Amino acid sequence: MTERHALYPGTFDPVTLGHLDILDRATALFDRVTVAVAEGGKATLFSLQERVALLQQSASHLDRCEIVSFSGLLVDELRRRRIGVVVRGIRSFHDYEHEWSMVGVNRVLLPGSEYVFLLARPELATISSSLVKDVARHAGDVAGFVPPAAAAALVERFAGDRL
Ligand code: COA
Repeated sequence: MTERHALYPGTFDPVTLGHLDILDRATALFDRVTVAVAEGGKATLFSLQERVALLQQSASHLDRCEIVSFSGLLVDELRRRRIGVVVRGIRSFHDYEHEWSMVGVNRVLLPGSEYVFLLARPELATISSSLVKDVARHAGDVAGFVPPAAAAALVERFAGDRL
């Protein structure tokens, strides 16, 4: 039987408990999940290597899951890796609208590519990387929002600001 292989792309700046929940559930649905960390056009707090490392540390308990990085178009990464399915999490109508337009463009660029959306668990649906960074910047406790490796990295990143 053909292996069911999905790609889970994102900026992951940094990975949150919401992302990990989506990844966890995706690995239950697919034979293999490749998490693709986007180099990204937007300014990030953590470098590409740091974002990949935080995901590797945080998802080490998951089998059949690999963490990679990519630059350029998502559809080119799908082509390069011969993956036909993209997984994304949806937390709100706002996410839905954003995903809806990206899928529209990606389907034109790569006809036949499929997009699977997992609804965020309600208790995780308000988490976003920006809000978590804001809490950490002001010395708040982020343990309820991100995995331990990301929490430690955030504390370390903002420690200098408070000296
Ligand atoms: N739980 C918690 N947070 C979540 C989440 C979840 N389940 N799903 C999304 N988020 C958050 C992220 O933390 C992030 O928060 P922030 O804005 O506060 O930082 C936000 O939602 C969106 O981030 P991300 O998941 O990285 O999505 P994105 O909209 O930045 O898109 C790519 C990332 C990689 C999919 C997209 O930029 C891409 O495809 N890039 C390649 C270039 C390309 O092909 N462009 C054309 C696309 S049509």
